[in-house]
Amino acid sequence: MKELQVRILENVPLAAGIYKMRFALPEKLDGAFCGKFVNISVGDGAHLLRRPIAICDCSGDTVTICYQIKGDGTRAMSKVEAGDTLSCVLPLGNGFSVGQAKRVALVGGGVGIFPMISVLREFAGTDKKFFSYMGFRNASAVCMEETFAALSERSKIVTDDGSFGEKATAVSAFLADLSAAKPDLILSCGPVPMLRALKNELRDRNINIPCYVSLEERMGCGIGACLVCVCKKSGGENARVCKDGPVFKIGEVEI
Ligand SMILES: Cc1cc2nc3c(=O)[nH]c(=O)nc-3n(C[C@H](O)[C@H](O)[C@H](O)COP(=O)(O)OP(=O)(O)OC[C@H]3O[C@@H](n4cnc5c(N)ncnc54)[C@H](O)[C@@H]3O)c2cc1C
Ligand code: FES
Repeated sequence: MKELQVRILENVPLAAGIYKMRFALPEKLDGAFCGKFVNISVGDGAHLLRRPIAICDCSGDTVTICYQIKGDGTRAMSKVEAGDTLSCVLPLGNGFSVGQAKRVALVGGGVGIFPMISVLREFAGTDKKFFSYMGFRNASAVCMEETFAALSERSKIVTDDGSFGEKATAVSAFLADLSAAKPDLILSCGPVPMLRALKNELRDRNINIPCYVSLEERMGCGIGACLVCVCKKSGGENARVCKDGPVFKIGEVEI
């Protein structure tokens, strides 16, 4: 993990209220990146806290993140221009591990689709097969569908209102395809109601495929020191999403 001054190469809209930012690092980043995140300053000088954003892609010294405008911080980020520099701490968190799995189901919703892209990018060209089920609010929020289609064995994009693809949720699309895809691993990231639905469905249907979820929590330091990001483990003990996560086994944490 390093604190670096990164140079913005591109910061452009991808879909309604969603931006893609690409930046250059002053040095190469080695090792796995999927499911890890950056903690990046927002560039306006007024917000002291950095914002945690998943790494979408990392190739050598270039990193791509994608973010939705939520509040003041991400709105300030959207004003950053190519050529500007920002302070960024990376890579953070434990990330996804795919291990020996050969057939991996990716279940993503909203901004949770971006860490799913990082898994596809990291394992592109290997013998692993990916089955992607991505859910969006409506057609105006849909993005990166070509990337999912290109890097997955099968990709389903669904929306809450049916304005793009089927009217379904990422979880229901995944369940409908489960017996055909036959995954030996499930990775997921998305809003809490989506993760909760996934957890309940797996339990109620007695599906015992290993499943890991990436959690989002409000963060302060991003490095395990301030305890702002604590979540509850199933046994009652606390875990720091930034340092012990953000990826947890689905049964290990309260969702
Ligand atoms: C590990 C991780 C990965 C993430 N990856 C992405 C991503 O790839 N794309 C994306 O659009 N968003 C992502 N988020 C959520 C993103 O960090 C928040 O939307 C963002 O911090 C909101 O900042 P804001 O100033 O615009 O909003 P405000 O609500 O004004 O933020 C106020 C404060 O709350 C914190 N905060 C608010 N919402 C969240 C949240 N959901 N998670 C964490 N901190 C929050 C902010 O950091 C800030 O300190 C991720 C969050 C985490 C924890
Ligand atoms: S954000 Fe400070 S401990 Fe996790």
